[in-house]
Amino acid sequence: MSFHIRDRYLYCEGINVKDLQNAVQDSPFYLYSAAQLRANVAAYAEALAGLPARISYAVKANGNLTLLRILRNLGCGATLVSGNELRLALLAGFDPADMMFNGNGKRRDEVALAVQHGVTVNIDSEFDLEHIAAASHAAAARGAARPVDVLLRVNPDIRPDVHPYVATGMRDSKFGIRAEQLPWFLDRLKGEPLLRLVGLHCHLGSTIKDVQVFYDATILMGDLTSSIRQQGFELRYLNLGGGLGIDYERTGEMPTPQALLDALRGQLPDDLTLIVEPGRSIVGNAGVLICRVIGVKRNGDKHFIVTDGSMAALIRPSLYGAYHHIGFIEPVDGELQVFDIVGPVCESADFLGKARMLPTPHEDTGLVVYDAGAYGYAMSSSYNLQLRPAEYLVDGDRVMQIRRAETFEDVALAQSPLSVIMPQ
Ligand code: LLP
Repeated sequence: MSFHIRDRYLYCEGINVKDLQNAVQDSPFYLYSAAQLRANVAAYAEALAGLPARISYAVKANGNLTLLRILRNLGCGATLVSGNELRLALLAGFDPADMMFNGNGKRRDEVALAVQHGVTVNIDSEFDLEHIAAASHAAAARGAARPVDVLLRVNPDIRPDVHPYVATGMRDSKFGIRAEQLPWFLDRLKGEPLLRLVGLHCHLGSTIKDVQVFYDATILMGDLTSSIRQQGFELRYLNLGGGLGIDYERTGEMPTPQALLDALRGQLPDDLTLIVEPGRSIVGNAGVLICRVIGVKRNGDKHFIVTDGSMAALIRPSLYGAYHHIGFIEPVDGELQVFDIVGPVCESADFLGKARMLPTPHEDTGLVVYDAGAYGYAMSSSYNLQLRPAEYLVDGDRVMQIRRAETFEDVALAQSPLSVIMPQ
């Protein structure tokens, strides 16, 4: 079991989290469970059994190097959205042949890096195609001629019923290519022998609860694949992106990877390898944010728990109104109240949870924000000079620090010495 309550204390696998909080200086900190990470990958692997398929983990969800190494050892590939994520994936030991480079605004230097390493690249726009073609020509001119495998990212115009900020495959979204524009891309690719179109890609959005939309996407993408094949392109892959939600609200009703794959099974042409790019459903419930209560405060009939964790450490509640389950890591017996759980950042948007019925804690009580493994640390900032938190990993009875906390010196030294740029 990964995170669980025993004798009123939170445990992560074999570790009492209060003991850990007392043992380390850092607060807040992220805490991950290796067992949960493995279980989440196993759930995908089991769901994909019998299909030609690849799990291409979306590094953006959590790019901690130790976690990436674990995921690589479990057989995952890596979906990347920047040149730096590509560098990190190389450091983590991923084989470039198992990497996919996505994005609507890849810079030329990033495209060149991907081409240099033989990473498959997604084409998102006309300019993107031209940049990838130019990079392939430049590589050939250096004598490194090998075709670049590319996918076309299709904008499927499917509404996934999620927060508008995390819907990516709708008509007015900035991502992908509308079906009616595909002929231009296919003609253009026919004139570029160094670009080898090997498949199609789409990504509908994130936090998806209804797997029906994946079924709709599979039908659409299967049809597009057939018609593009008729033009002589040898498509081998269908990449359906990521997006499966996790049970933040703890309703017990979230579809599993098995349910996702059951929605697709039978709809995929047999001779296509399916690629899925899960991020959240691999790391989300494998991580929590551990904070300390700074104090409890009342304004009229509003009650607040003020913690050292804030929107700087975890911005999802502030940015998307996202729900994260919140509890204490140790016994608390104060009066039950309805609290907003807020941080110290000078913004009213700085909250981790609203209107939660909780017992009144003491100062220094340990508080846990659950399901923070995806887009938690990855989206953290040092706003208000709340320094980015440390990260710890539990594996059985062992705890490892897998990232030190940002220090004041990290921030201050990046600003010195000053250098004059102009006039030269
Ligand atoms: N593939 C592509 C092309 C993507 O754009 C994304 C996420 C994924 C895969 C992984 O999706 P996942 O399985 O994690 O849902 N910051 C937001 C999430 C933004 C996700 C954007 N794209 C949040 O905190 O909810």
